[in-house]
Amino acid sequence: MKALVLSGGMGTRLRPLTYSTPKQLIPVAGKAVLEHVIDNILAAGITEIGMVVGGQGDKIREVIGDGGRFGARITYIPQAQPLGLAHCVKISRDFLGDDDFLMYLGDNVLPEGVADIAGSFAAHRPAAQLVVQKVADPRAFGVAEVDADFTVTALAEKPDVPRSNLALIGVYFFTPAIHTAVDAIRPSARGELEITDAVQWLVANGAPVKASEYLGFWADTGNVDAVLECNRRLLDELPPQQLGTVDAASRVDDSVVLAAGCQVVNSRIEGPAYIGPGSVVEDSHIGRYTAIGADCSVRHTLIEDSIVQDGSALSDLPGLSGSLIGRTASVSATRRHRLIVGDDSRVEVAT
Ligand code: G1P
Repeated sequence: MKALVLSGGMGTRLRPLTYSTPKQLIPVAGKAVLEHVIDNILAAGITEIGMVVGGQGDKIREVIGDGGRFGARITYIPQAQPLGLAHCVKISRDFLGDDDFLMYLGDNVLPEGVADIAGSFAAHRPAAQLVVQKVADPRAFGVAEVDADFTVTALAEKPDVPRSNLALIGVYFFTPAIHTAVDAIRPSARGELEITDAVQWLVANGAPVKASEYLGFWADTGNVDAVLECNRRLLDELPPQQLGTVDAASRVDDSVVLAAGCQVVNSRIEGPAYIGPGSVVEDSHIGRYTAIGADCSVRHTLIEDSIVQDGSALSDLPGLSGSLIGRTASVSATRRHRLIVGDDSRVEVAT
C-alpha cells in the first residue's frame, strides 16, 4: 500500500505565517505538522509516499527531503492550482498505479495514529474506508451517514443541514476503484473536484464504502487556536528528555524536553514544554505548553502556551500567552508600543 499526502493549499487562516511557510511546516511540540503526519504513515507500515505540493512546494521539499531520514521514499507531485482533493488523486495516477493507498491531508494531526484502521482496510478492502469523528458542528466538514455496521450510505461536503454528526477527518483508504469515481465527477460549487463527491459516487454506484470512528484527539491545524491546542496535546505526550545544560540557579520540571545544545540560565521552566537545539533561555520563566524552536534566544521574558519558531529572539517581555511567533522574528519591549504590522496580521496588545 502507498500513501498520498496532500500538502498544497493556501493556508489563508494562518496568514501572515503562511506567506513564507506552508501551513504543513508549522511546528507543533517541536516538529512540523507534516513530520507528525509522516510518522503516522510509517507507523501504519507504509514507506512509499507521494507528496502533492502547491506553490510553496520547494520549501516542503527542502525540509522534508526525499524521505531518507524517516526511512521512507517520497515522490513530489506538483499541483499547479488548488483544484480540489480529488484533483490531487487525478494528477497522482502515475505514482499510485493500481495500488491501494492511504490518503492523508498534510495539515491533519491524529496522534493516536491510524495503524489499526489500516489493518482493517487491508483485511477487507472495501472500495473506500473513511476515518470519521463525531463533531459538535459538522457544517465545516465532509459528513458521512452510516448504517448500524458503519457502512456509508451517503456523504455530503460541508452541508448546510448535516444529516449526521460524523465528520471526515482527513484520512481515507482507497482501492483503485476511486480512480473511476474521480474521473466521473464534476467540480463543486466552489470550483473544486471534491473527494467527498468521488466517494459519494462510489456509494451511489453500489461500491462498498466503510467508515471507522477515530476516538483520539484530532486537529485540523488550519488556524492559530487549533495549532496551539494541538501543541498542548502533543506536548502532553512527549517523552521527557533533558539533553541541554541547566545552571544551578535554574529550575526545570521533569516533564520538560531540552534538546541537545540548548542552555537554560537562571530560569524557571514548567512542563510540559519543549526547548529546541541551540536555544538559550536566560533570566526567563517558560510556562506550561510552550514550544521554543531551534536557535532561539529568550531573555528576561515570561511566556506560556505559545510556539516560537526557529531562530527567533524574545527579550524583556513581561507576559506572552497564546502566541505563535514565526521564524527569525524579533519581539522586544519598549516603553511605548511601536508596531510595524504586515497585511492580514493579528496583533493583540496588553492594556
Ligand atoms: C477537507 C475536506 C473535508 C474534510 C476536511 C478535514 O476540507 O474537503 O471533507 O472534512 O478537509 O480537515 P477543507 O479543509 O479542504 O475545507
